[in-house]
Amino acid sequence: MTMREFLRSPSGVGSAFPASAALVRAALDPVDFSAARLVVEFGPGEGPFTRELLRRMPAGSTLLTIDTSHRFTRYLQESLPDPRLHAVTGSAASLNVILRRLGLGPVDRIVTGIPFSTIAPDLGARILDSSVEALGEQGQIIAYQMRDAVAPLLAARFAEVRTARIWRNMPPCRIYWASGRSG
Ligand SMILES: C[S@@+](CC[C@H](N)C(=O)[O-])C[C@H]1O[C@@H](n2cnc3c(N)ncnc32)[C@H](O)[C@@H]1O
Repeated sequence: MTMREFLRSPSGVGSAFPASAALVRAALDPVDFSAARLVVEFGPGEGPFTRELLRRMPAGSTLLTIDTSHRFTRYLQESLPDPRLHAVTGSAASLNVILRRLGLGPVDRIVTGIPFSTIAPDLGARILDSSVEALGEQGQIIAYQMRDAVAPLLAARFAEVRTARIWRNMPPCRIYWASGRSG
C-alpha cells in the first residue's frame, strides 16, 4: 500500500517502504509513554508506528493520527479497531484546528514521519509551529527522516534535540527527539 501511495505522491509520501520494526523500536524505546494521555502521529501511512504506539500507550489514552491520504486513514480505521485511535484525514499544519474540533489537548508526544526534505519548506515550518503550540510543558516530538532538512527547524524551536542514525531500515534513517521550548 505504501508503494502505491508513493507512486501517487512521491514528494508527499517520501518513501516507497513502510518503516522497519528496527526503526520503530529505535525511535520509541527511549520515550516514556506510560503516562501519556494524548499522542499525535503525523503521517502514519499504513501504521507501523501506530500499532506499536497503541501497544505502549495506557488504557484510556488517545492516539490521534493525521494523514493527508484518505486511503491511509481508511486503512487504519479498518485494520485497527481500537477505541483509543482517532484516525483523521488532513494536514499536520492544521493540528490545532483538528484538536479544537475534537476537544483534545494538550499533546504529550508527537511522532512524525512527514518527509520534511521533500515538502515545501514553509509547510514544514508551519507544521512545527503548530506542534510547539499544541505540546504541553513536558511534551516531546520524535521525527524520523531520510535526510536532515528537519534538523534546523527543530533546533530553532526546541531547547534539546538528540539524534541517532538507524541503518536497519530501507532507506537508512535519522531519528530526532526534541523537547523543551527554546527562547
Ligand atoms: C514516509 S511516509 C511514513 C509512513 C509511515 N509512518 C511509516 O513509517 O511507514 C510519510 C507519510 O506522511 C504523510 N504526509 C505527508 N505530508 C503530510 C502532511 N502535511 N500532513 C499529514 N500527513 C502528511 C504521507 O501521506 C505519508 O503517509
